[in-house]
Amino acid sequence: MLNEREIESCYLGQFIPVHYHHNMLMDQNRMHGFKSAINYAVKPGAKVLELGGGTGVLSWFAAGRAAKVYCVEFNPDMVKAARKMLSMNPNGHKVEVVHADAFEYLPPEPVDVVICEMIHVAMLREKQVEVMESFKRRYLARFGGPLPVFLPEAVIMAAQPLQQDYDFEGFYAPIVQFQETSTAKPGTVELAAPAVYSILDFSQPTDSAIAWQGQFAIEKAGIVNAMRFITKNILAVVPEENSTIDWLNHYMSVPMSQPIQVKPGDVLQVSFQYRAGGSIPSLEASIRTELVHAHAHSSNAQLSAYA
Ligand SMILES: C[S@@+](CC[C@H](N)C(=O)[O-])C[C@H]1O[C@@H](n2cnc3c(N)ncnc32)[C@H](O)[C@@H]1O
Repeated sequence: MLNEREIESCYLGQFIPVHYHHNMLMDQNRMHGFKSAINYAVKPGAKVLELGGGTGVLSWFAAGRAAKVYCVEFNPDMVKAARKMLSMNPNGHKVEVVHADAFEYLPPEPVDVVICEMIHVAMLREKQVEVMESFKRRYLARFGGPLPVFLPEAVIMAAQPLQQDYDFEGFYAPIVQFQETSTAKPGTVELAAPAVYSILDFSQPTDSAIAWQGQFAIEKAGIVNAMRFITKNILAVVPEENSTIDWLNHYMSVPMSQPIQVKPGDVLQVSFQYRAGGSIPSLEASIRTELVHAHAHSSNAQLSAYA
């Protein structure tokens, strides 16, 4: 019988099955970003902790330079898989896979770098923000400062109003979609430029409660029937090159219950609120939109087709 925490874990995706990890290993943006950032942030001989190790791939990147890596994973299937895979790779012996809950585990010694990839678009579903906050509090109590370098260091989140095609072979289905960031998707029209709604800097205290109200200057005519959520992870800051090593998550487009017809010059006010680690429907239900400055509209006929 599963307890409440385990049920929530399955539902929100904390228990990602082994076969899904193939998708993560195949995600080149993610893999290249983390590999470069880890190579940059982990100095030779460093001690590293990874929270939520999965297959152990990020711990293994770190093991190329670190003296010791603690890799914490609480899904027993993944613990087994990581131990097996690490044993098949050079330097794998430097990674100690620990079967534990990241909300409770502390390494036996201070570490230089903490890697944590429990990241979903908009910081929903996975427990990154809460895990990092819990870790910082417990680490400071056990070891004092300074805190290790966190990887990612920060996350920048933005929203953008869209007109989204929800026709699937004639079947109308307004549904959450995940989209590639590199190619424009047919059926998706960006109606205004994105607006940043939250920046979380993991070296500082971060709040799980995320709430925003802001305005978009509409640039194209259309029906706003979806909100795109954009999440850029600043994996490492490279001050000597005045640059950052980033990972842009897939875009997530969330359908809106009240589509609004817009045209250039309109100002659309949008608000939403959710908890980091919460569900996509909780965000979806909170989205409110209102035209605060509208030019006269010619017809509502198009709107009724989408409502
Ligand atoms: C998005 S995956 C990333 C896996 C791996 N780091 C990678 O980059 O391929 C997140 C991992 O965190 C693990 N996880 C989730 N909640 C956890 C917790 N409370 N304690 C330890 N591991 C956890 C999941 O089982 C999953 O393997």
